[in-house]
Parts: sequence; structure tokens; C-alpha cells
Amino acid sequence: WVLMVTAQTPTNIAVIKYWGKRDEKLILPINDSISVTLDPSHLCTTTTVAVSPDFTHDRMWLNGKEIPLSGGRYQNCLRELRARASEVEDEEKSSSAAGFACLVFSLAKPKNVKEDQSKLSSIARQGSGSACRSLYGGFVKWIMGKEKNGSDSVAVQLADEKHWNDLVIIIAVVSLRQNETSSTSGMLETVETSMLIQHRAKEVVPKRIIQMEEAIKNRGFPSFARLSCADSNQFHAVCLDTSPPIFYMNDTSHRIISCVEKWNRFEGTPQVAYTFDAGPKAVLISHNRKTAALLLQRLLFHFPPNSDTDLNSYW
Ligand code: DP6
Repeated sequence: WVLMVTAQTPTNIAVIKYWGKRDEKLILPINDSISVTLDPSHLCTTTTVAVSPDFTHDRMWLNGKEIPLSGGRYQNCLRELRARASEVEDEEKSSSAAGFACLVFSLAKPKNVKEDQSKLSSIARQGSGSACRSLYGGFVKWIMGKEKNGSDSVAVQLADEKHWNDLVIIIAVVSLRQNETSSTSGMLETVETSMLIQHRAKEVVPKRIIQMEEAIKNRGFPSFARLSCADSNQFHAVCLDTSPPIFYMNDTSHRIISCVEKWNRFEGTPQVAYTFDAGPKAVLISHNRKTAALLLQRLLFHFPPNSDTDLNSYW
């Protein structure tokens, strides 16, 4: 190989979800989404890429496991990069910039691709939609864009990592089972069969995006929490509205929701937000360390280790 690069990319958690594409090939979404990028020293994806001289034998490992590069997505992404690549300058380089975004960075940097971050995010997007939001820290919006060629479907930073740094994110690993339906096929089935998804994308999300941006700007936790929980619940509602229905959450996920809802109601104002992606694992966001400590206590009380509903770990 000409070069082998290992890079780490932070994980991002969507608080206004991306679900549904208007273009499957270019990976263009049907609505804007907003995420928060986790501190890469806590949770990130490690990608290693080996690039062959003629690009015909490239290989890639995601968290140490080799993944086939034969999929059209990866090839599209590589093609874009190569088209922009100038000479290979360094033998070895690493960058700290989930998975595909990482590939973009690891290939872009050594090849001296002089692209601005928006352009890179549009290339990353073509690998996995949500990955484009990982190119920035802090709070990030992925603008759906209007252009057919996807040129305006890019990620932009709303606020950097220092803006709201007393937020604490706890991930409760509810089950280590592999997801039954991948996000890619799940959202395709939703767009094909759900009527609710159109209402969500056209009526609900645009308003929520404005409100969420405002909540982030003002560090307004109650509004941030209400919007995050509502959006997670609506995303799972559109999954249920899909035919056949998709179930990502399980009984433990539902119990966690009830627990947080009861607590928030008892306090009169939200203390903790929850959000669930295409799986049962809970992402819980508290507005400061004190509430996070209380939350951990509650989780341990309701889901004690070695019980039926034991959560595998809390990060
Ligand atoms: C529920 O980005 O994994 O996490 O674009 O098909 O690769 P593809 O899908 P992916 O979908 C993520 C969906 C989600 C919500 C989100 O992250 O916004």
C-alpha cells in the first residue's frame, strides 16, 4: 500500500432525528437534523484505511474489524475524494476528526485535499448520512438542502464544544444484540409505507429545528429536553407506522422513558432528556454533573446489576 492511516472520529447523537431520504444514492435527507458531538476522548470510532497505489486494493477496518469496501457507498465516497486529491505527500499521517467521516478525513488529509469542512461533510454524507455531523464538535445541524445534486446538503456547526459544556451525556447500553433492521433499510421502508413520516418531515421538524436552535443558543435546558424527548418519541412512532412496523426500543427502553418522565414531572421542570436511535440503548442528557450523579443512582436502583433488566454499562 501507498499508505495506511488510522484516525478517530467522535460519535454524534441526534436530538432532532434524520429519518428518511429524498435521494438514496446521494444520501440526501427529507428533513434537517441536529446533533451533539461527544467528546472524542470518551467515545469515538477508530478507522484504519490502507490505500493501494492504483486504488484497486484499498482496505478499511472499523474499530479493528475489517469491513468490505465493495459497497457502492464507499466507492462513491472514495471517487469523490480521489477526484479532489492532489499528490500524496506524506507516508504516514493521522488526524483526529463515526466511521465514514473518519475515512474522509484519513484520506483527505494525507492527500492534501484542500476542501473546506462543508465540502468534506458533503463527501462524508455520501458514506453514511449521520456521519457528516461528526465533522464538527459541539452542536451541529445537517441542512437537508434543496439541490438535486446535494451540493447544499451540508453540516454546519451551531455552537462549539465550549458553548454548553456543563451538559452530561450518559449512555445506558440496554442490549448488546445487533439491531434487527439497519437504519438504511428502516428509513427506506418508512418512506415507502408510512403516512406519518410526511407530516413529520414537512410540518413538525421544520418548527422543531427553529425551537431547538433557540434552546441551544440560550442554553435553555427545559426546552432542549422537551424537544429532544418529543423528537425521539416521534421518530419511534414513525417506525411503528412503518409496514411491517419496526421496533427499535424494548421493555427496558420503555421503562427508562417512564422513569425519566416521572422524575421530570415530579420536579416540575425537565432534569434529564432521553433520546433513542435505531436500537434500544438510551442516551440520557442531564444539565449538570449533580443531576447526572442522581440519574446514575436512579438507574442503579431501577436496573440493578445482575438483575433481569441489568444495563450492561453506563458511560
Ligand atoms: C436514527 O446515518 O445510519 O441515528 O444514511 O442510511 O447510513 P444512512 O443512515 P444513518 O442513520 C442514522 C439514523 C438515526 C438518526 C440520526 O442519527 O439522525
